[in-house]
Amino acid sequence: MAAGSSSLHIGIVGFGNLGQFLVERITKDGAPLGLALAFVWNRNTEKLKGLVPDELVLGNLSSFADRQCDVIVEVCHPRVVKEFGVHFLSRSHFMVGSPSALADHDLNEKLRQAARLNGRTLYIPSGALWGGQDIQRLNDSGALQALFIRMSKHPSCFRLTGDVLSEWTEGEGRRVLFSGSVAELCPLAPNNVNTMAAAALAAGKLGFNGVQGEIVSDTALSDFHVVEVEVTGPGGFSVHTVRKNPARLGAVTGSATYNSFWNSLLVCKGHGGQVYLC
Ligand SMILES: NC(=O)c1ccc[n+]([C@@H]2O[C@H](COP(=O)([O-])OP(=O)(O)OC[C@H]3O[C@@H](n4cnc5c(N)ncnc54)[C@H](O)[C@@H]3O)[C@@H](O)[C@H]2O)c1
Repeated sequence: MAAGSSSLHIGIVGFGNLGQFLVERITKDGAPLGLALAFVWNRNTEKLKGLVPDELVLGNLSSFADRQCDVIVEVCHPRVVKEFGVHFLSRSHFMVGSPSALADHDLNEKLRQAARLNGRTLYIPSGALWGGQDIQRLNDSGALQALFIRMSKHPSCFRLTGDVLSEWTEGEGRRVLFSGSVAELCPLAPNNVNTMAAAALAAGKLGFNGVQGEIVSDTALSDFHVVEVEVTGPGGFSVHTVRKNPARLGAVTGSATYNSFWNSLLVCKGHGGQVYLC
């Protein structure tokens, strides 16, 4: 907790869809839950005018340590995790909204080490992942043998870096865009595979190289995203879940994911120097 206060102070980094949602929820519902805003940062501060009180606007992210802050929440871009994650963990707990950044093995190690050394928690929100804690338990007991995640969305909902989906037509149906390890998928679709990245972190023994993923474009999915998870354990053990997440056409993030982020934030009260799926 920040000195002299019983509230948990939250710094929000990024003021896009998720950032705005979290700022609104903290402002509206935070006080009785013991949550208050420490600061809000966005690369373009104009966007914050009239929506965030001036005293809470952080002009320069490098001066984040000037504000008393218990938990920093990144809802911005994997690049910001790379540049600031270790610094954030030297002062606060850190919830990584863009866990696809951790596909970078070096960064992954540095963040884990920073969490350990500083006794701060690196929180990974479950996002659209169902059963993440069960996967983590199976992983920790050594019984997780394989994990596969398929995300199917309308083509307008994908933001891909390569040209695997440069053209599509309404009504074309289903097309597998990429199938492979989550490590290979993260650079290709950094904004679409956060759920898979959260799964790869829960399944730490398989890791980003061992967890398999598939992204599927399907023009029939105009109202929701589908996330399928297949877990394999010993002696024929298996679990297959199918989650339908309502989403508007063109939306990268399904609507249930916003509330999922809020519920994740409520967990971030400090769990020691470790990575914690919340
Ligand atoms: N963990 C999950 O399940 C999950 C779900 C949805 C989104 N996300 C991730 O969370 C992040 C935010 O999502 P969103 O839906 O709010 O996105 P958004 O596009 O609505 O907002 C992103 C914000 O960050 C800013 N930004 C983008 N690139 C930047 C950069 N390189 N440096 C600084 N600022 C930058 C934008 O200006 C914008 O204000 C994204 O990285 C997204 O991939 C994760």
